[in-house]
Amino acid sequence: MSKYVVHTSKLTRLYKSQIAVNAIDLQVPEGAIYGFLGPNGAGKTTTIRMLLGLIRPTSGDIQMFGESLQTHRKSILQRVGSLVENPSYYGHLSGFENLAVFARLLGVPDTRINEVLDIVRLTPAAKKAVKGYSLGMKQRLGIATALLANPKLLILDEPTNGLDPTGIHEIRELIMDMPHEYGISVLVSSHLLSEIEQMATWVGIIRQGELVFQDRIDVLRQESEARLYLDVDQPTRAYDLLRTDGVDVVLEDQSLVLKTVDPDTSAAVNKKLVLNNVNVFRIREHAPSLEDIFLNLIGTGGSL
Ligand SMILES: Nc1ncnc2c1ncn2[C@@H]1O[C@H](COP(=O)(O)OP(=O)(O)OP(=O)(O)O)[C@@H](O)[C@H]1O
Ligand SMILES: [Mg+2]
Repeated sequence: MSKYVVHTSKLTRLYKSQIAVNAIDLQVPEGAIYGFLGPNGAGKTTTIRMLLGLIRPTSGDIQMFGESLQTHRKSILQRVGSLVENPSYYGHLSGFENLAVFARLLGVPDTRINEVLDIVRLTPAAKKAVKGYSLGMKQRLGIATALLANPKLLILDEPTNGLDPTGIHEIRELIMDMPHEYGISVLVSSHLLSEIEQMATWVGIIRQGELVFQDRIDVLRQESEARLYLDVDQPTRAYDLLRTDGVDVVLEDQSLVLKTVDPDTSAAVNKKLVLNNVNVFRIREHAPSLEDIFLNLIGTGGSL
């Protein structure tokens, strides 16, 4: 069996001639909390709807639990719980009664209802009519519904949308328990890095239908380590001089940028430039924030 619970190859979806999802290779490792990040309209929901078999890919392939969704649709989807868009409930029925409706549809024993209510911490409100639930409680009821059939993978499309900080915190705590307490991998989408950063172990960043980053969140964090910036009077020449010496340097907005802030390297680079009649105006250290890196990846055109 594949070590990925979701593994797509060149997954693509067009709406008429517009590309919503463009050849993405999504890889969600087993046991991960995979944060699927991107600005509005990036293609998150379209991707998720394809994974849930709600819409067909235009091209490309989806493997889940090591099997093809196309040929093993039923057995795969039995192992997936999901929350996409706001689910509708019977307002006059209690949380328990609403879950009982789904439990019957799914052929799940009633004993499971109390278990899922407990997991999402809704036991105290189990007998209350859902019309009296807060938005956060309704979202937790949605997650409870998704958990009814004991899934191995939970797919949540922006589960914290519209929630206040307390509601967001509760959903986050819940999600974070899933892999180790219940053996459930999670794919959760969001347009907020700050939210994903606190719970995800893996991150995929989608921009205009393309996956522009996918790795462990630690790898993204390493990107936010300090760099050395040199402002000089002849950036291109300085760049060439340093490259000739094998220095790992890039040119960014007319500044030379080194990935190291080691004092010896800094001194050597400065000396080399000055000896070659390049004026060094300024040497500064700067560590971009994770948010800077994210904004850079999704481009400034992204509406966040
Ligand atoms: N049913 C549809 N018909 C036509 N175009 C669509 C349809 N659904 C989505 N799109 C387009 O596909 C692109 C991706 O949309 P999608 O809803 O997947 O983005 P998203 O990342 O979920 O955005 P949001 O953060 O706003 O939920 C957008 O340009 C959108 O306008
Ligand atoms: Mg969406």
